[in-house]
Amino acid sequence: MGIDPFEKRILFITGKGGVGKTTVAAAMAYAARDRGLNVCLVEVTPSPNMRMIFEQDIPLYKETEVDRNITVLTIEPFRALHEYVGLQLKIGGAARLIMNNRLLNYFLNTAPGWRELITVGKIWHLQDMKAKWSKKPRFDLIVVDSPATGHGLSFLKVPSVFMNIIKMGRMQGQTADVQAMLTDPAISLLNVVTLPEEMPVNESISLLNTARDELHMPTGFTFVNSAYSPLFDEASRESFEKLKEDPEAMERLKEVFPDNARGLFSALENRQARVAQSQYYENLVREKIGPPIVRIPHLYPGRVDKDGVKKVAEIISQNLNKDA
Ligand SMILES: Nc1ncnc2c1ncn2[C@@H]1O[C@H](COP(=O)(O)OP(=O)(O)OP(=O)(O)O)[C@@H](O)[C@H]1O
Ligand SMILES: [Mg+2]
Repeated sequence: MGIDPFEKRILFITGKGGVGKTTVAAAMAYAARDRGLNVCLVEVTPSPNMRMIFEQDIPLYKETEVDRNITVLTIEPFRALHEYVGLQLKIGGAARLIMNNRLLNYFLNTAPGWRELITVGKIWHLQDMKAKWSKKPRFDLIVVDSPATGHGLSFLKVPSVFMNIIKMGRMQGQTADVQAMLTDPAISLLNVVTLPEEMPVNESISLLNTARDELHMPTGFTFVNSAYSPLFDEASRESFEKLKEDPEAMERLKEVFPDNARGLFSALENRQARVAQSQYYENLVREKIGPPIVRIPHLYPGRVDKDGVKKVAEIISQNLNKDA
């Protein structure tokens, strides 16, 4: 048995822009929920696709139950900081006064790093929260839909930077807690989503290297998303080739598709080229990154709605640790 993602507390879903992070994060939430877990799906930046998937508006920084035992929280750094200050001072009014201070706002608008620190701090807080009237965690699992890479890993890097700057006081201890959470293999798992294409695969390789070598984070699954499978087996392909060379058959096809009889064959060839590319990069992922890999097929019509996400959840559940 390989890694069990559902035994962790926080799954970070990372990857290049547009590769399917939100889709995979939502699918992981369903897969975990269907195992009986109460899941919080955290968004670091608000995405239209999250709202499309759950077919509803999701306000900023408001825990929103989008389906049974799936809550979405879109982190908004100013609101998170306000909450943090309130928790530290234990007086709501004072927090408001501080947060409305113009000088502080000026400072916050120019200071680097605090947004990332407060974002990870909020994730720490979420995993630390207890359910009402109980010692059980409020959420069994937190799935984090991370921003696209580039600045996507920076929010994970900032706590270690701050650890070296803040050398005393309560914040030092808190930053150390956050950093310990990120690097603890019992708690956190960083996963990457890629497409079977050149740029996303290269970026995934360097992202995983950064995660391991610089962030010292435990790394888990590589989701190869939108992978293409052949539509026809070899025998049907040969029949197609024969058909192309059969003038009588082509005449009959032209009766049905007067303008596009040849187009049918080029559509098939395009699809084959797509499959070949997909297979090439899937092999590259196997070779350069290695297991555990979860392959997710390209779903039609190319935009994955709630039912599509549930289908992806099933595929993920069936394929976790298949090659471990
Ligand atoms: N397996 C798939 N088959 C077909 N379409 C897919 C698949 N996975 C994702 N998509 C579609 O691709 C688009 C991008 O997916 P998604 O929003 O999940 O990517 P993302 O990595 O979160 O993007 P961003 O970096 O912009 O946040 C969406 O329209 C989604 O429905
Ligand atoms: Mg997204």
